[in-house]
Amino acid sequence: MVIKVLSKFRSPAEPLSTGLIANALPMPVLLIGAKQEILFVNPAAEQFFDTGAGILLKQSLGDLLPFDSPLFQLIAQARERGSSAAERDVDLSTPRHGEHIADVTVTPLPEPEGALVLTLQERSLAQRMDRQLLARGAVRSMHGMAAVLAHEIKNPLAGIRGAAQLLEEALAPDEREMTQLIVAESDRIRGLIDRMEAFGDSRAFPRHPVNIHEVLDRVRKVAETSFARGVTITETFDPSLPQVLGDRDQLIQVFLNLVRNAADALPDNGGEIILTTGYRPGVRFGAPVAGERLSLPLEVTVRDNGSGVPADLLPYIFDPFVTTKVRGSGLGLALVAKIVGDHGGVVECDSVLGRTIFRVLLPQARSEES
Ligand SMILES: Nc1ncnc2c1ncn2[C@@H]1O[C@H](COP(=O)(O)OP(=O)(O)OP(=O)(O)O)[C@@H](O)[C@H]1O
Ligand SMILES: [Mg+2]
Repeated sequence: MVIKVLSKFRSPAEPLSTGLIANALPMPVLLIGAKQEILFVNPAAEQFFDTGAGILLKQSLGDLLPFDSPLFQLIAQARERGSSAAERDVDLSTPRHGEHIADVTVTPLPEPEGALVLTLQERSLAQRMDRQLLARGAVRSMHGMAAVLAHEIKNPLAGIRGAAQLLEEALAPDEREMTQLIVAESDRIRGLIDRMEAFGDSRAFPRHPVNIHEVLDRVRKVAETSFARGVTITETFDPSLPQVLGDRDQLIQVFLNLVRNAADALPDNGGEIILTTGYRPGVRFGAPVAGERLSLPLEVTVRDNGSGVPADLLPYIFDPFVTTKVRGSGLGLALVAKIVGDHGGVVECDSVLGRTIFRVLLPQARSEES
């Protein structure tokens, strides 16, 4: 049946080749009828939706994806215009077939009436990681800058702060506001430089097997009693998760920064943060820190239903000093990327309005170490 439908569009010189070509393509391809019914899927599409062709061909797109999926807007657009419509980074995640972000092209066919071809190009892990590797370069170039700043600013700053305190003693209590402002701002600059200096620290640190669930519990408790008071923080943990080899305090810092950003982005009401862990033994990535392909089977995600990262900012959020917050320094995610990198792992972000996911992949502690 499938070949029959597709063979209508084959060129006469190439009998039956269209279906064969579609089947050989590595990207998911679907043929959709006028009522969104699925007329054809190639093996890559079966894999993408984690469902066999036998079942998919009895369904419509509406059975696969939620009714508010951005894909339906794209389809409507293509139908209206009578020409191809494409969009990058479309969220095709569903609870049933998991998280998927893909570039989608929708092309109307001349017949049968209302038929469309959908091609999906899932963003590979490696493509998503590229951004982070660039950010690591930026962090590295900060090392020298932090050292210079520490030397050139911290000492005179201590002098300015001390002088303000001396002045304050000579002033009447109601005149002390300005000197207190000088002291407070000096402390803020010093704090900023201290945080920048953390990037310069490239010494090897002792690593121990760390239970990541204990780290996340700790982060949740700290968050719930401070910046995320009143926010629902849900944990979905894989209890069989092996330990990670690393530094517990630094890992707490990573997830604290991610949860703090999530909390900052939440709406006033109905905000939710979800922490998940999972074991994905198939995930391999050639991390340059190790100079070889590493297996990164431990996955920790921090998800929120907040405002999302502005699309134009997304490629740069792991760069230092990138911030949209009035009092933000833009160092939180740069530090996350540095620490995760020092642990031989990677971090990436997918974000649309109402759904932002930071995914941290870490190597497993070997059995003799745990
Ligand atoms: N969960 C999120 N939802 C929406 N936007 C986010 C999220 N996480 C990060 N961002 C965006 O990325 C920017 C950079 O984050 P980063 O943590 O590096 O700095 P910051 O939070 O602005 O400042 P700092 O962490 O130094 O106090 C943020 O300003 C924000 O615009
Ligand atoms: Mg932050």
